[in-house]
Amino acid sequence: MVRQGRGMSGWDAQGYDRSFSFVTSYGAALLDLLDVQPGERVLDVGCGTGHQAAELAARGADVVGIDADAAMLDVARAEHPEVSFHRVDAQDRAAMTAVVPTDGYDAVLSNAALHWMPRQDDVVAALADVLRPGGRLVVEMGGAGNVHLATEAIRAARREVGLDPGRASSWTFPTPGEQAARLERHGFRVRLVSLYDRPTPLGPGDTAADWARMFGAVLVDDVGQASRAVFDHAVDTHASAAGLDRRPDGEPGWWIDYVRLRFVAERL
Ligand code: BEZ
Repeated sequence: MVRQGRGMSGWDAQGYDRSFSFVTSYGAALLDLLDVQPGERVLDVGCGTGHQAAELAARGADVVGIDADAAMLDVARAEHPEVSFHRVDAQDRAAMTAVVPTDGYDAVLSNAALHWMPRQDDVVAALADVLRPGGRLVVEMGGAGNVHLATEAIRAARREVGLDPGRASSWTFPTPGEQAARLERHGFRVRLVSLYDRPTPLGPGDTAADWARMFGAVLVDDVGQASRAVFDHAVDTHASAAGLDRRPDGEPGWWIDYVRLRFVAERL
């Protein structure tokens, strides 16, 4: 269904919006937590296709969206011309300073993006750099234990098609303690850190194998065309054995075992 996903260059940005819009929908609670005020300068880190940034703009904020992926930004610019978008890797402190307004941002918001960045200390340091003193940081990302069942199913399928099941992913899913300590090290006062399970239903007709193609690129991009059907079948078989084809709420369809780490911090 989808060509390739987040974690590789050249996202299938349209497929992402079409089939995995839950990423944006779940961001709504985060926006409420940010409680943005008209005129505030806000940076949306890992803005993807820009829906959250556009919502912030609609609430009166002066928003800049950044993402490292050009395909995502193409869609964001086309769909939300009222927002400024820039291609910046949030781990790159020098590049981040290029998008800071005088006196810094009032707030930084990030949803489902920071776990793609292996250099978490660089990211948190860069976020401290771009916020004004007293500015707030509101983030949700994958936390410890995130997508464990889904990843194990992919690894088991890799073994079945003769690939290394232990291939490293580039995701980082910190514990609350690790992330709180990191925030304090880089000049933040931590207001809230919370780790919670969020079993996430997939769209109608999507299975674990579809999710793996969109989000697990680093674990599936070396699967050859000839093995693809066998691999997809194996992913779904193992995911089904782990219960991912039976939604916990009893509704029909597949789900993924997301665990979210949410935190709110203030720049000292
Ligand atoms: C996440 O949003 O937590 C996530 C998505 C795909 C792969 C890994 C993590």
